[in-house]
Amino acid sequence: MNSIEIITKKKNKLELTKEEIAFMVNEYVSGNIPDYQMSAFLMAIVCNGMTIEETIHLTDIMIQSGETIDLSEINGKIVDKHSTGGIGDKTTLVLAPLVASCGVRVAKMSGRGLGVTGGTIDKLESIAGFQVEATKEKFIEQVNTIGVAIMSQTGNIAPADKKIYALRDVSGTTESIPLIASSIMSKKIASGADAIVLDVKVGSGALMKTIEDARSLAHTMITIGAHYGKPVKCVLTNMNEPLGYAVGNGIEVIESIETLKGNGPTDLEELVLTLGSLMVSIALDCTKEKAIHMLKENLQNGKGYEKLKELVTYQKGDMNQIEQDPYISIKSPKSGFITKIDANQIGEVVKRLGAGRMQKEDSIDYGVGICLSVKVGDFVLENEELVRVHFDGQDISMQEILDCFTFSQDAPEKEPLILEVIE
Ligand code: URA
Repeated sequence: MNSIEIITKKKNKLELTKEEIAFMVNEYVSGNIPDYQMSAFLMAIVCNGMTIEETIHLTDIMIQSGETIDLSEINGKIVDKHSTGGIGDKTTLVLAPLVASCGVRVAKMSGRGLGVTGGTIDKLESIAGFQVEATKEKFIEQVNTIGVAIMSQTGNIAPADKKIYALRDVSGTTESIPLIASSIMSKKIASGADAIVLDVKVGSGALMKTIEDARSLAHTMITIGAHYGKPVKCVLTNMNEPLGYAVGNGIEVIESIETLKGNGPTDLEELVLTLGSLMVSIALDCTKEKAIHMLKENLQNGKGYEKLKELVTYQKGDMNQIEQDPYISIKSPKSGFITKIDANQIGEVVKRLGAGRMQKEDSIDYGVGICLSVKVGDFVLENEELVRVHFDGQDISMQEILDCFTFSQDAPEKEPLILEVIE
C-alpha cells in the first residue's frame, strides 16, 4: 500500500477500504506520512466526501489510535456536549458549570480553535494559571470531587484526531461532513460518555453553511453514535451572527462570567437553557420543563457562577486575571437598523488579530478580540458605537470591520436561534 495511490483513489471518487484509511491515519500519526501528503488526502475527502461506511471506519481508526476512558467510576449518568464550532461560541464555559450546579456530573474534553471558529481550551487558557492538561485519574477524581472538569483532549484520547485536527486548522480542510463527524464522534466515544448532546451550528459563521448540510452532519453523527450504542441528540442553531457580543478569548470568558451572574446576552442564555435542558433531563431522568426550571434557578441564585469559580480554582486558574487588551471604539457611519453582522468576517478579523492560528506552531494572543455593541435588529444612530476592538498595536482596518455590518431603514425579521432539535 502507498499513500500516493490512496490519495489518488480518493481524488478519483472511489470508496476506500478500512485498511487504506487506517494506513493513511496510522502512518501519519507515526510520522511516516508528511503533512503535505496528509493535507492532499484531507482535501480529496473535502472535495469528494466519504460514504457512511468510510466515515465509521475513520471514526473507529481514530478511536483505536489511543485509549478510551472508562467513566464508570463516576457516579451517575454522564452526558457530554460538543459544538461544531462558531463565532463567539462560549457556550461550554457557561453550560458546564451550570449543568453541574444542578447535580449532573460533567466530564468535558474540549478542543482548540478550528479555522475561524474559537476553541474552549484556548479561551480557558486566557485565565492566568488555568491548567488544561490532566491524567485520566486526575480528571475522574476532579469530576467526583467537584462535579465538573473541562480538560484538553489528552494526548491519549484519539491522538490521530488531535494531530489531524491541528493540520485541518491550517490547510483549508475544515468544512467536510465526514471529517467533522469522525473528529467529534471519535473523541466523544473514546471519552466514555453515556449520551451525547451536539450543537450543530448553521450559517455564515459556522462550518455548515446551509440547513441541509447541518441536517446531514447531524444524521451522520447520530448514525455513528448508534453504531456504538450511544444515544445522540442534535440541536441545529443559527450562526449567521456571532453568539453573544464578545468574539476573542479573554473577552469571551468575561462574557461567560457575566452570563452566569445573570447578566448575559439573551441568545447565549437561550442556547445554554436549550442544550442544558437536554443534558439535565437525560442525566437526571426528568422532564425538560423541570430541567429548565432548575437551570434558570441556578442562573438567578448564583449557584452556576459559584460552580465556575470552583472549577477555575480547582484547575489552578485565577479568575481575577483574565487577559483583555485595551480597546478602541468604532462608530456607526450612519443611522439605521442593523440587518446583518457577518459572523465569518468577524471571525476572520479576530483570527488575524492573533486570537487564532495561521500555522500549527503559532501562539495565541488571548487579549485581542471584537466586542459588538449591537446585535441584528438593533437601531443605531450615526456616530453611536458599533464595536470595541481590543488589540495590542496590531494593524487593523476600520473599513474591513465596518464592512461586516449591513444597515437598512427597515427593521429586519429576527431569525430564530434554535432551528431544529433532532432527538
Ligand atoms: N469540532 C471538532 O471536534 N472537530 C471538528 O472537525 C469540528 C468541530
